[in-house]
Amino acid sequence: MASKKTGKGDSAFLTDIKTLRERARKHIEDGAVTPGYQADRETVIKLLNEALATELVCILRYKRHYFMASGINADAVAQEFLQHANEEQMHADQIAARIVQLKGEPNFDPDGLSSRSHAEYVEGDSLIDMIKEDLVAERIAIDSYGEMIRYIGDKDPTTRRMLEGILAMEEEHADDLASLLADLQR
Ligand SMILES: [Fe+2]
Ligand SMILES: [Fe+2]
Repeated sequence: MASKKTGKGDSAFLTDIKTLRERARKHIEDGAVTPGYQADRETVIKLLNEALATELVCILRYKRHYFMASGINADAVAQEFLQHANEEQMHADQIAARIVQLKGEPNFDPDGLSSRSHAEYVEGDSLIDMIKEDLVAERIAIDSYGEMIRYIGDKDPTTRRMLEGILAMEEEHADDLASLLADLQR
């Protein structure tokens, strides 16, 4: 399947999710044409490394937002950003450990990190911009984890359970951010 170039800008919300889905599907199709445990394992490791890159980018973005929000005296929002950064770190650690269990190697290479990630690193010019960017990233993560869980199905229950736990927390993150946004816009 040819990957389509999609534009960025004001309508980036839907476009990014579309790009994410195309990318996730591409690897899944690679796995489907090569049956057998070995091939599945490689696909799972590849998907987990994309998830790892996504979590690492999310940590960096939330850290940036935490320190910038602290500077403009938005303490409650800053604390939320910090909590999310710490939880994304937990996810990254869980995913890296699972990759090793599957006899793969976790990719922590900073070169190409943002292109391996599903979510983007966007700094945001205001508190509201930061929250919106984080919410977009969480929604991408929710879609991406959902796709991985459906792909894995019953083939790897341990990885599936881990991903389901992470997905539940990303949904909480998105919910927290939507509430913050609603409060600030009122
Ligand atoms: Fe996460
Ligand atoms: Fe999250």
